[in-house]
Amino acid sequence: MNQKIIIAIDGYSSSGKSTLAKAISKKLKYKYIDSGAIYRSVALFAIQKKIFDSDLWNIRNFIPLLKEINLKFKWNKKHNRTDIFLNEENIQYKIRSEQVTNKVSLIAQIPEIREKLTLMQRNIGKNKGIVIDGRDIGSHVFPKSELKIFIKGSIEIRSYRRYKDLKKRGEKISYEEVKNNLIHRDMMDISRNIYPLKKSIDSIEIDNTFLSIEKQLNFIYQLINKKNNHIII
Ligand code: DC
Repeated sequence: MNQKIIIAIDGYSSSGKSTLAKAISKKLKYKYIDSGAIYRSVALFAIQKKIFDSDLWNIRNFIPLLKEINLKFKWNKKHNRTDIFLNEENIQYKIRSEQVTNKVSLIAQIPEIREKLTLMQRNIGKNKGIVIDGRDIGSHVFPKSELKIFIKGSIEIRSYRRYKDLKKRGEKISYEEVKNNLIHRDMMDISRNIYPLKKSIDSIEIDNTFLSIEKQLNFIYQLINKKNNHIII
């Protein structure tokens, strides 16, 4: 039998990490973990607790509330996906709102939060057999993961893909706004003091500016085939 492995997919915002991670997890029958969704859930919780309502939001007031957070992942049969629950509320859609997107980088900078969420991710992945995407997975959360992929793409192509997605969802937003938002998030991710977005030395970089999803997946499946005698294609 194949030995289960951990596949870490890190990279820039809107670089298509989650599309790849979901497809790989389906193919291997592995668990898919969207670590960005975990950070987004904490940002939603902070918004619900009105933490950002004063001009100077107070981290010290927020940290003690962290213990009230109970996150669970449950399989949604109808939509064929895993949904995330915060204190028993399905927040799968809420965490994708612009309000949450605008606050999540602030949340991701707080060491106590990163520590707690890192432990949570390690616990979910303790039996391996997972595909997990994020920013610090290969460099920090699972530094010994058997396969590390780092995804990048030009700012223009990432902005265009995200713009198309948002338009499909009926959001009123211009291409320029999407691009500026991505530039800001890239900067926050790269310049964060703790565990910033970073390509680890042993990860394999894919620049998908001119690559189709199929080509990326074929390349990744070949890499998986070389690990632990996995034969999947
Ligand atoms: O992948 P995403 O856009 O849903 O992630 C939301 C935010 O969470 C992103 O701005 C950076 C942060 N994040 C992080 O700091 N570390 C991770 N492992 C995943 C996400």
